[in-house]
Amino acid sequence: MQNTFTKKLISGAVISLLGTTALALSSTAMAYEKGDFLVRAGFTNVSPNDDASNIFAGGSDLGVSLTVDSNTQLGLNIAYFITDQLNIELLAATPFSHDVNFSVADPLGTGNKLGEVTHLPPSLTANYYFLDAASAFQPYIGAGLNYTIIFDEEFTGANKSAGLSNLDLDNSFGLTAQVGADYKIDDKWHLNASVRWIDIDTEASFKVGEANGSVSDIQIDPTVFTISLGYTF
Ligand code: NI
Repeated sequence: MQNTFTKKLISGAVISLLGTTALALSSTAMAYEKGDFLVRAGFTNVSPNDDASNIFAGGSDLGVSLTVDSNTQLGLNIAYFITDQLNIELLAATPFSHDVNFSVADPLGTGNKLGEVTHLPPSLTANYYFLDAASAFQPYIGAGLNYTIIFDEEFTGANKSAGLSNLDLDNSFGLTAQVGADYKIDDKWHLNASVRWIDIDTEASFKVGEANGSVSDIQIDPTVFTISLGYTF
């Protein structure tokens, strides 16, 4: 009786000790640490806010604004932990192409689409991880700066035939903020999801025949969704 009780006590203690050790080992292995380097690849969707001032051409208000379509690209992202809980992350991606449409149907008799623009929105953010290191689920909040390079601005063929040319949109420099989470599959691999807001403001200029045209305030301000697979070095 006493013997069995002792055996049970010892085996129970050994099992719980093994369990605690395993947990401690796995927590240590799971935790991010200062000096860790993350690389992530996945899908990034840029969904612009539709807020722009009216199109002016030859000094008159056309009474029409713009909307910008969403686009999904390969999202790439690297991050470096400067402390156990804080990393600096660079968001990169293959170039996003967006259709730019008139805010009302076919106002110039050239179709609903005004043209296309392509952009790259590299963003640098500092992200703070606030859960304890043992958690496989690691949410974070971040803020930083964005520089959006807009290029390959082009009117549709119908708008070009109607006399529109020389479309140019300014690059944008602004703030960005995000919430995201890593789910650690093991000490090397994790799944990541994030939602980011970027303040991208630009203005457009173009020619209508010989006259100047413009859209003075285009608030692209997109919501950017990313889902990716990450690896820790
Ligand atoms: Ni804005």
